[in-house]
Amino acid sequence: MVGGQGTRLRPLTLSTPKPLLPMAGVPLLEHQLTRAREAGVRRIVFATSYRAEMFHEAFGDGSRLGLEIVYVTEEEPLGTAGAIRNASEALTCGPSDPVLVLNGDILSSHDLNAQLAAHRKADAAVTLHLTLVEDARRYGAVPTAPNGRVLAFVEKSPNPPTNQVNAGCYVFRRSVIDEIPPDRVVSAEYEFFPALLADGAVIIGYVEAAYWLDVGTPAAFVRGACDLVNGAMTSPVVSGAEHGVLVLDGAFIAPSARVGGGTTVGEGVRIGEKAEVESSVLFSGAVVESGARVVRSVIGRGARISSGAVLVDVVIGDGASIGPGNELLNGLRVWPGVELPPMAVRFSHDA
Ligand code: GDD
Ligand code: MG
Repeated sequence: MVGGQGTRLRPLTLSTPKPLLPMAGVPLLEHQLTRAREAGVRRIVFATSYRAEMFHEAFGDGSRLGLEIVYVTEEEPLGTAGAIRNASEALTCGPSDPVLVLNGDILSSHDLNAQLAAHRKADAAVTLHLTLVEDARRYGAVPTAPNGRVLAFVEKSPNPPTNQVNAGCYVFRRSVIDEIPPDRVVSAEYEFFPALLADGAVIIGYVEAAYWLDVGTPAAFVRGACDLVNGAMTSPVVSGAEHGVLVLDGAFIAPSARVGGGTTVGEGVRIGEKAEVESSVLFSGAVVESGARVVRSVIGRGARISSGAVLVDVVIGDGASIGPGNELLNGLRVWPGVELPPMAVRFSHDA
């Protein structure tokens, strides 16, 4: 499932779909694809829509990853269940075989084979990975009975009945996918799953509290990238991180700069003397000049942070330029190519 627009991650997702944003040096999706391969998955159907061609450019026929990848594109996005139904034209398995469906924006180290085993044991229509979060309001809350049967789907509720949520990884019995209405927008979470429940279908929750993150917001994107670099989340395709920093090819870090906390220093990045970069993601070609400070932020491709600028919890779009002495905090987002003059933005600390 890789057709979403990634609106909460704009401006990063204006040019690149969320699943293809680089995370610890490779597209976010690659962590999940290689984990699936290690679990025994051999063939993957991509349900694409937004910027569909970029997925083919990134993964081609999948052989680079030891997978067979095929693409099915929606002209107009069909919603989560509509996308599954549409992509099912490319499935090759039999009606009672299990089909694994993954949201394309998740980092998860849960055991796919244990989820499949739970599905087979219960002979379920659908088996969902469920995980526990502190605040379920941004997710789909999924209460279950003691025997594991799903009782309800309560999507993005201000008052979730449980903090056990849909973790965005499903096993479907193949024939159940054929019950999704074709050729129209259908939401899995709001429409299809509740309809299945109402029909009495067996929907099972597979609860596992392994590392799990929905990389849907800038804060989550930064956290996930740092977790990959620090090793809190393990991925088959992350290597070479040392002392909490991953430095990619051709990057230069001045000797007196301080860089750490899980930071990714992208290809060709330059970090000047006495700059401080903590728990951040610097996309390829970004420049952090001497004495600048960057904390928990994402710096887009080729963006420039000038001397003495301070950035905490912000996103800087590709090619933007932040003039000297600016202070950008607290979720601020700068659009690609914007040039902020010197000392243009400061925060009041005495308000
Ligand atoms: N092909 C296609 N077409 N893909 C889509 C479409 C569509 O119309 N809409 C969304 N997707 C893809 C997105 O690209 C993403 O990979 C996945 O479906 C989920 O969409 P998100 O937009 O990230 O959903 P969410 O995070 O708000 O909520 C979903 O995931 C949560 C767990 O991360 C829901 O499934 C929640 O119930 C769940 O808790
Ligand atoms: Mg999501």
